[in-house]
Amino acid sequence: MKPANRLAFIKEYYFSKKLQEIREMQHNGIEVINLGIGSPDLPPPFDAVAQMQLAAKQEKAHQYQSYRGVDELREAFANFYKRNFQVDVNAHAEILPLLGSKEGVMHISMAFLNEGDEVLIPNPSYPTYTSVTKLVGAKPVFYELKEAQGWQPNFQELEQQDLSKVKMMWLNYPHMPTGAKAGKNVFHDAIKFAQKHHILLVNDNPYSFILNDQPDSLLAYPEAKEVGLELNSLSKTFNMAGWRVGAVLGSKENLQSILKVKSNMDSGMFLPIQLGAAVALNENEDWFKNLDFIYQNRKTKLLELVQKLGCQLEERALVGLFVWAKIPSGYKSSEEFSEHILQTHHLFAAPGTVFGSAGEGYIRFSLCVDEATIEKAIKRVEA
Ligand SMILES: Cc1ncc(COP(=O)(O)O)c(C=O)c1O
Repeated sequence: MKPANRLAFIKEYYFSKKLQEIREMQHNGIEVINLGIGSPDLPPPFDAVAQMQLAAKQEKAHQYQSYRGVDELREAFANFYKRNFQVDVNAHAEILPLLGSKEGVMHISMAFLNEGDEVLIPNPSYPTYTSVTKLVGAKPVFYELKEAQGWQPNFQELEQQDLSKVKMMWLNYPHMPTGAKAGKNVFHDAIKFAQKHHILLVNDNPYSFILNDQPDSLLAYPEAKEVGLELNSLSKTFNMAGWRVGAVLGSKENLQSILKVKSNMDSGMFLPIQLGAAVALNENEDWFKNLDFIYQNRKTKLLELVQKLGCQLEERALVGLFVWAKIPSGYKSSEEFSEHILQTHHLFAAPGTVFGSAGEGYIRFSLCVDEATIEKAIKRVEA
């Protein structure tokens, strides 16, 4: 069958293809150390799993669930935002639980974009913003983030562009893949920019709680709810990537539009997952301290590995689950260097170009691998 025309504009997800190649290497007896993927290997909160198991025994657990999620989950998200970001969100109108934030990228795009609309997307960034924009017939317009500018958007430069067709702008702070935090005025300036040009601003915020002592939210800034939405997720914060739980937060009107799409696409989230997620969202400070302790130890080792590979690091704190580094000189491209370490040391790390052309010259290493494995990787490089 001839696929739909829209598929002509997108490619199979890079990791979907690359992981197949790695599986084949492993099948042939090569032990590849995978430092490419940001899928947390640590367990979720114990009491969240216990609640999920308990809830599975409820009589009504196996029926269709509400399209808006249960009150317990929305209230837990509201309390989480209040506690961690000092943001007030109405649990009944301003939070919509999602099956992860990736799903939200599609729902938001379907709810607000018409064919031909333009979307401002950071380069480099999470590839899904671009592919989904194309899938809904809109046009990605990239704004380049540069190391010299701390990977922050340059609103003065953006003001010089023709913005007449721009309907939406993606922000993602803390930023993946670079690990940059939003600069001092970035959210504030972004809101002013969005107001001036009637643009819907969306901040994708799944990394605020990993190695970051000052979590920030777009919604903590004045008038953000009128022009903006925020995506959040339990995938990284609570090691629950496989559960598929996230949320979109914003004004009642905008969420109603998203619900129109979502309620036509799924029939609610499994109740035990919702109740377990609510427990996770109520975790106290200790959860974050323990997580950071483990990731910090891994990062110390990973930085050693990265230096042994001849990569260069920027002098700034890296927030989130990754180490972003410059490839050594002598390689034509990020992909060439990534391929080189895969073939020579059987180490996989993601070439920066997976995240856009501005990722050329960089490589991304994940912290989702235990210390012993990183040590093994160091030994391979030393040998
Ligand atoms: C920037 C960014 N946004 C969203 C996601 C998707 O997360 P979720 O598991 O919540 O769908 C990822 C996953 O890697 C990500 O890196």
